[in-house]
Amino acid sequence: MKSTFDAQGEVLVVTGGANGIGAATARAFAERGGTAVVFDVAHAEELDGIAGVEQHRVDVSDREAVVFAVDEVLRRHGRIDALVAGAAVQPRSDVVGMDPDVWRRVLAVNLDGVVWCAQAVLPGMIAQRSGSIVVFSSGLAHAGRAQASAYAASKGALIPFAKSLAAEVADYRVRVNVVFPGVIDTPQFRAANPTGGEREHWAATTGIGSPQDVVDCLLFLLSDAATMTGSVLTRERSFAQEVA
Ligand SMILES: NC(=O)c1ccc[n+]([C@@H]2O[C@H](COP(=O)([O-])OP(=O)(O)OC[C@H]3O[C@@H](n4cnc5c(N)ncnc54)[C@H](O)[C@@H]3O)[C@@H](O)[C@H]2O)c1
Repeated sequence: MKSTFDAQGEVLVVTGGANGIGAATARAFAERGGTAVVFDVAHAEELDGIAGVEQHRVDVSDREAVVFAVDEVLRRHGRIDALVAGAAVQPRSDVVGMDPDVWRRVLAVNLDGVVWCAQAVLPGMIAQRSGSIVVFSSGLAHAGRAQASAYAASKGALIPFAKSLAAEVADYRVRVNVVFPGVIDTPQFRAANPTGGEREHWAATTGIGSPQDVVDCLLFLLSDAATMTGSVLTRERSFAQEVA
């Protein structure tokens, strides 16, 4: 069955949208007639000039900057229908030697950043009585991994956060869901798995997907076809293998 999601007239904020899964999502949403607004600390030249894609330089860990950027989107477009909260960092560090600033930064971006973005977009969604929010967890939230404690902790915390938020806003027809993307070849994946040997391992076991492989899951969750909320959508093989 072909995917035919229509985003005409809809506005998506996608954090971390300058790279990887977020960039593919922004492009796909715009191709379907919607407006995709990227919040990222980086700029994606590949997205420049694509009709329906806008880029805003926003550090999601900066709550004031997030509020300002969301107000700007509302001023320009009048509404926000969806939030895909993908911005994340994954520095490798063992616990014993970890610089406290590394711990705080990971939590500030991966966890606080999701909270600030959700807080900023929700009043509009509640008022319009519709909206869809997607956050990303990771197999590391369950499996853990050496030198990934901060990332794993941040990704684990997002699951009960999303479920609790889903319960809070369900009466307003705003949905909040969690996606486990699986092993996806993106800048973050390459940085966190720097050696060819590790990448060969994933390729030989779970397989390495492309950002495009996650996009249809996300478009589905953003669409009216998805009536679920508080759910955890696990893309092929990722959770069973507990690797991503
Ligand atoms: N790629 C995978 O295998 C995988 C597996 C499990 C979960 N995930 C999750 O999926 C999501 C997307 O991952 P990806 O692999 O596409 O990542 P990516 O590294 O390709 O993109 C992440 C983006 O976040 C941006 N970013 C970093 N800090 C930011 C900040 N403070 N404010 C705003 N933007 C910031 C980066 O500039 C980058 O563009 C992430 O939440 C990630 O944790 C990815």
